[in-house]
Amino acid sequence: METALIGCGAIGNVLARGIAEKIVDATLEVVYDNNHEKALSLLEFFQIKPKVAKDINEILESEVDLVIEAASIEAVKQYGPRILRSGKNLMAMSVGAFADVSFASEMEKLARENKVKIYLPSGAIGGLDALKSAAAGKIYKVTLRTTKPPKALENAPYLKEKNISLKDLKEKKLVFQGNALQAIRGFPANVNTAVAVSLAGIGAEKTTVEIVADPQSTRNIHEISAEGEFGKLYFKVENLPSPENPRTSLLAAFSAIATLKSITKPMVIGT
Ligand SMILES: NC(=O)c1ccc[n+]([C@@H]2O[C@H](COP(=O)([O-])OP(=O)(O)OC[C@H]3O[C@@H](n4cnc5c(N)ncnc54)[C@H](O)[C@@H]3O)[C@@H](O)[C@H]2O)c1
Repeated sequence: METALIGCGAIGNVLARGIAEKIVDATLEVVYDNNHEKALSLLEFFQIKPKVAKDINEILESEVDLVIEAASIEAVKQYGPRILRSGKNLMAMSVGAFADVSFASEMEKLARENKVKIYLPSGAIGGLDALKSAAAGKIYKVTLRTTKPPKALENAPYLKEKNISLKDLKEKKLVFQGNALQAIRGFPANVNTAVAVSLAGIGAEKTTVEIVADPQSTRNIHEISAEGEFGKLYFKVENLPSPENPRTSLLAAFSAIATLKSITKPMVIGT
């Protein structure tokens, strides 16, 4: 499979290295980043160098089968519809773009019309395979509990609005409880995981999100619990940051590689 990459930061680096080391059955033909230096820095991994695009049109006009976005929510909104219209599949790491329901349904419509697919990797979270299976029956309740060090939550609009300071926090504190829609607005840095859980399960309005600030925690911890016709599930991940970007979990970059593997392999594991 021939691919193109938009965004050559933390996730882009891990993914490009994976392709260069041939751990996936794909080639990287074109790379693009609005910071040209970042795109150039990926070339060192490759013997046969990908083309560095000057703008998005060079990707749209290329022959690639799949465009991988690892850039930003704005990039998905800006380029996503044009990628699908150009007849290319899209893998979007900035899953948060799909919190906008009208954008999400427009993208689904475009994918259907152009006979292409949109892949949204699990990213920093896990357990979505079981949650998707559970959603084939009735689900009564889904809760996503995210625990982060206070520093990682510091500039959240919700905390400013409610005048909550985490500066001298000595013990764990539940700082937010609400549905995923409210969580996305109040804590935009958690948007990717909240949207992924909502899309896999019962939607943002019905998904409960709890956000905990823990001064003892050095990891970003995500716990999913769900109850339904199937029984109960509980999943927990304690994420370490990626070396390039402390805000991005290494697992998110690995999930880009795993998704690419499942697209290109003849046998697919998991729901
Ligand atoms: N799904 C998940 O769980 C999950 C987890 C971590 C990160 N993410 C998302 O994946 C994306 C990439 O993460 P990262 O850690 O690699 O980020 P990063 O900041 O390390 O790298 C992003 C790169 O994209 C480039 N870029 C940004 N907007 C662009 C645009 N409009 N056009 C072209 N280039 C653009 C930047 O210059 C930068 O080099 C982010 O949106 C992040 O929120 C998702």
